[in-house]
Amino acid sequence: MTDDTATPWHILGAGAMGTLFAHRLEAAGVPVVLVAREAGTMLVHTLRSANGDSEREFAVEGPASPGTVRRLLVTVKAPSVTAAVAALGPRLAADAVVVVLANGRGYREALAPCLGGRPLYRGVTSEGAWRESASVTVHAGEGRTSIGNPAGEPLPPRWFTAGPGRLPRVGWDAAIEQALWEKLAVNCVINGITALHGCRNGALLTDPAARRDCEALLLETVAALRALGRPQLAAALPGTVAAVLRATAANRSSMLADRLAGRETEIDYINGFLVARCAAQGGRLPHHTALLERVRALQPTLASGAAGGSHPA
Ligand code: PAF
Repeated sequence: MTDDTATPWHILGAGAMGTLFAHRLEAAGVPVVLVAREAGTMLVHTLRSANGDSEREFAVEGPASPGTVRRLLVTVKAPSVTAAVAALGPRLAADAVVVVLANGRGYREALAPCLGGRPLYRGVTSEGAWRESASVTVHAGEGRTSIGNPAGEPLPPRWFTAGPGRLPRVGWDAAIEQALWEKLAVNCVINGITALHGCRNGALLTDPAARRDCEALLLETVAALRALGRPQLAAALPGTVAAVLRATAANRSSMLADRLAGRETEIDYINGFLVARCAAQGGRLPHHTALLERVRALQPTLASGAAGGSHPA
């Protein structure tokens, strides 16, 4: 039987979120191995936060390194999730736990063959972190992280309580499907517009053009959520978006950060997912569709493996 406390967590994606969780897990006594595109030996890495710098050394494997993977936290960006998990597929133990912590939705079907019947756990986080360099991550703001099984699992499993559940501000969410929809809706309203206007989140409250675009998207998202049978989420969305914009006013959204770094964005997994869901019911979202096309036109067609997060300054 697996000793849940001694089982290492492999973290796929050594970007901002991946390294933040690597530090937090090790600080809680949970062993961590980073999985990068290429195997290395060790990565000496610094986490910078309001409490000062903390340095740790992590083992780095490549996808094809030897050894079994029993616990996998996927922190690469949405467009890279399927290929990254597929590359690791042969190493996954029969009872492996796979948790995807990435913005956006729409990779479940593509991932299913790599998972071979294992459940796909999902996480949603409001932790703010950005990558200063390959060896420094800045923890810009504390947030909450929820993990759960979208197919339904009311109680936290052993792997959770022995692993991520030991971290402060990380909880099991039996209603993770609701949290995923809420996060998607917030990302739909904020991320694409900030990438397009090249502005920080707070400008969606203060800059007239960005605010107009944001309000149009918000109204359309509210209508879409109602049409998709999520009236409570729809009713709460204007307040939720306003609160997120105020709390993250000085930050660059993850999509703006991707755009500025010349990386592929998550637009197809955020606004694209909502447009596709509504289209399947015969609904149209003209503002989302226009944004989708404009952001797609801005981005290079390259695969990204770097995980991002909220970026201040
Ligand atoms: O993706 C992001 O950047 C964040 O989810 C959010 C909440 C939009 C704040 O920047």
